[in-house]
Amino acid sequence: MNRTQPLVLGIESSCDETGVGIVRGDTLLANTVSSSMDEHVRFGGVIPEIASRAHLDAFIPTLEQALDTAGVTLDEVDALAVTSGPGLAGALMVGVCAAKALSLATGKPLYAINHLVAHVGVGVLDGGVLPENLGALLVSGGHTEILRVRSLTDDVELLGATIDDAAGEAYDKVARILGLGYPGGPVIDKLAREGDPKRIRFPRGLTQPKYMGSAEEPGPHRYDWSFSGLKTAVARCVEQFEAAGEPLPVADIAASFQEAVADVITAKAMLACTEHGISNLLLGGGVAANSRLRALTQERCDKHGISLRVPPVSLCTDNGAMVAALGAQVVMAGGQPSGIEFAPDSSMPVSSVHL
Ligand code: KG4
Ligand code: ZN
Repeated sequence: MNRTQPLVLGIESSCDETGVGIVRGDTLLANTVSSSMDEHVRFGGVIPEIASRAHLDAFIPTLEQALDTAGVTLDEVDALAVTSGPGLAGALMVGVCAAKALSLATGKPLYAINHLVAHVGVGVLDGGVLPENLGALLVSGGHTEILRVRSLTDDVELLGATIDDAAGEAYDKVARILGLGYPGGPVIDKLAREGDPKRIRFPRGLTQPKYMGSAEEPGPHRYDWSFSGLKTAVARCVEQFEAAGEPLPVADIAASFQEAVADVITAKAMLACTEHGISNLLLGGGVAANSRLRALTQERCDKHGISLRVPPVSLCTDNGAMVAALGAQVVMAGGQPSGIEFAPDSSMPVSSVHL
């Protein structure tokens, strides 16, 4: 196998995006994504069974389009990579079965890849080799995590994570409370620009001393987040305006909610970075599209002397190129293929980069 500039085809199906990406080493050749988002809108969130069926329908056309865009044939591919977790069990199963079938049919080696680490690995497609002393802040509909990445292919450590809702989930739930539809992120982001972020002081979860502790004696949730209280606070706030018969200041609520999210995410991320000697940060996940989160992360990174990298949005949201990118890194590092015996793992830990 070509291990210097391997041609790798990556498959992603952990949530509602069917993605097939193709890379050569750290060069992006194709990133084809088919989303079932529209089919979930009327339910206000992703319905796993619908997502699984949509993956089944979308896989072959997405694969064909990716090969076409990259201008390569399956025969030329050096290795296959697939998200084996974490994610929705049924959705993961479709991508993993497709990948195993391709591997059997073509005789190409298959690598089972961790979705979260792939969100970091995608950084190589936009700026080449990732720097040392690297941290990653992943914020999406499914995850809110801060990682220390000593080695992309074999040493990733979870420093902190949400203990309940992911940030994107909080956006979706708050949008529903405000009657703004699904998905909530983009619409709240837009509305917030017209609102006053200081109008309402919403809670910043897990920031009390009993959770934070000190640098010497960290509390139980020093680098963790919680967004379920924030969502409840928005619901109470809406009730109060309604009970008083006052018009709902939707833009101000959206701006104040967004400020609470961006503030607590970046504050805790900065703490985790400075206390772990992290001097380079990668921001990824679908919520990295958020204008306030981007701006505040940049502002606070500048203040702490941390250099920030944010891949383009098309590489931040779930996609197959990120799986191919990390797969290629594993191939180049001499990693062994996973075979076809492995099972998808919906709660695959971030410390397990590949199986
Ligand atoms: O990474 P992603 O495509 O899929 C998951 O892994 O979940 O992220 C989707 C999430 C949704 O919850 C959506 O509301 C949120 O990203 N999102 C945003 C923005 N654009 C998308 N959240 C805040 N601001 C945005 N501009
Ligand atoms: Zn994701």
